[in-house]
This record gives sequence, structure tokens and C-alpha cells, in this order.
Amino acid sequence: MAEQDLVYRGKSKDVYNITEGPHSGKYRFVFTDRATGYMENGKAVFDPGYDTVVGEIPGKGAIACRFATHFFRLLKEKDVPSHYIDTISENEMIVEPAIPLCMPAGSPELPGSAPLLNLEFTWRNNATGSFWRRYPFVKPGKNLHRVVEAWTKGDSDLLITFEALEETGALTGDEIARSVELVKDIAEIVSAEFASKNLHVIDGKFELGRLKYGDDKIVLIDEISPDVLRVCNGYSPDDSGDCTAYGQCTVTSLSDGKRTIKNRKQVSASDFVSIFLS
Ligand SMILES: Nc1ncnc2c1ncn2[C@@H]1O[C@H](COP(=O)(O)OP(=O)(O)OP(=O)(O)O)[C@@H](O)[C@H]1O
Ligand SMILES: [Mg+2]
Repeated sequence: MAEQDLVYRGKSKDVYNITEGPHSGKYRFVFTDRATGYMENGKAVFDPGYDTVVGEIPGKGAIACRFATHFFRLLKEKDVPSHYIDTISENEMIVEPAIPLCMPAGSPELPGSAPLLNLEFTWRNNATGSFWRRYPFVKPGKNLHRVVEAWTKGDSDLLITFEALEETGALTGDEIARSVELVKDIAEIVSAEFASKNLHVIDGKFELGRLKYGDDKIVLIDEISPDVLRVCNGYSPDDSGDCTAYGQCTVTSLSDGKRTIKNRKQVSASDFVSIFLS
């Protein structure tokens, strides 16, 4: 793995271009032990919700790779398109090169203009997190039927409407429809897999991209990692699928105009990751 073949060094993964052998032309993902979080009294506190790498957690990369492998293979079995090709070691995966859904800046000469970076898609079985903070008129735990939303990446992620995506030329109407359908299909499979282990997925976040060598086909890229899924062990639905346990589970606050929402029955990534690692 020559350094000159490094395509991208992300917060958690290194992406290499493969230049020889049976996978020549494909990308190699190396899942590293780098972990994000924040510093407190000079010590690193790991938290996947943060965007700064503050240290390493030994074994983290191998766990993320096994978790992602489990779900990518499941998608393959069900003919759901992703960039996944194979897993070749405990922390290395081969994937199809793709272009994340993005768009160059229309007027890069202007100060402050910026490209649209890798779009992210969230999907939600039930209302919580930023959805509830944006729409606090909604009962926490309400069944949202896997509502899909698109987000632009940046210092802070911003919601972008599908109409704006189409009007700016970032995606065509047809691509938006296919992307939403793909995200919902994957969400259904992931949710069912967790349900088979008596766990409920509240929401999740995926990245999509166009295969470099595949008629611009839009597929799931990046990873399905424990860090992008919110999971709970107390889902108690009524006939509409609204969670009836929110009274005991959800803790909200409003201070200086800022809302917070937490769920007591949420299971931490480190506690659910192991069930898919055997
Ligand atoms: N098949 C693919 N082809 C090309 N790039 C990919 C593919 N799958 C994922 N990527 C990109 O590779 C990077 C993976 O690295 P990592 O997840 O560590 O990045 P990250 O720090 O989360 O970066 P970012 O903030 O851009 O997500 C991401 O930017 C992702 O968009
Ligand atoms: Mg990432």
C-alpha cells in the first residue's frame, strides 16, 4: 500500500487506489482505529457525534469493518446495489470507486462560495434527535415511516430540500426518486436485521454515490457503521407504530432557545455492535 496510492484520508478510514493484482482499479478501504470526540481536562472523550479526531481506540477499525461487512453482504444477498466487493482482512475492504453525490461551486471566484460536498441521507423510523429539535410539535417516537432527508456536509450539516437539489442541478428528479427509494430499501433491511435481534433502529444516515464505472448508477457507498445508527431496546409501538414508551424514555430540555433530546432506552454503539460480529 504505497502512500502515493492514497486517494483520501478521512477521519476514520484511509482510501487507496489499487494499482495491481485482481482488484486493480478498485479502491481499498482501510478501517483505522482513529476516533472522534472532544477534549476534557486534557483528556480525550470519544464521541461519534463529534467531527474531530482526538485519539485511537484499539480494535475499533476491525470492529467497524466486520460490522459493515455483515450489512454489505446482506444487501448483496438481497440485490441492493452498493459499492461493496469483498473484505480481505480484518480491517480492509475492497470497494468500487464512486463519486459521492456532490457538485462544484458555481462561482468559485467569489469569496465564501463553496462546493456541495458528499450529500448525506438520513432516514427515520421514529421522531427524535435533530428531527424533534427542528419540529418540536411532533410527539417523540412518532412513526415517521422512514422519512428521508438530504443534508449538505460542512462545518455543520444543513438540511437541503429535494426541490432545491433539483433546481440547483445537483440531482435530477429521477435521481432523487431513485436515491430516496434506495435509502428506504436499505433502511428496511437494516431495521429488520436489528428487529431479529430484538433491537429497534430509530434512525440512520447513509452516503450515496455514482459508480465511476457503471452508467452513473447511484449506489450505497461508504459504510454502514454502528456510529450512524441510533438503536433502542425499549420500542413499544401502538397500532400506528408510534412508540408509547416515550414518557419513560425521552428526556427533553429547552434553555436559551436551545433544545436537547435524549432517549434513556437508547443502546450505545459499543453495546449493539457485538451482536453482528460473530
Ligand atoms: N466507493 C467510494 N468511492 C470513493 N469514495 C468513497 C467511496 N465510499 C466512500 N467514499 C468516501 O471516502 C471517505 C471515507 O473516509 P471517512 O469515512 O474516514 O471520511 P470522513 O472523515 O467521514 O470524511 P468525510 O468527513 O468526508 O465523511 C468519505 O469521504 C467517503 O465519502
Ligand atoms: Mg465517514
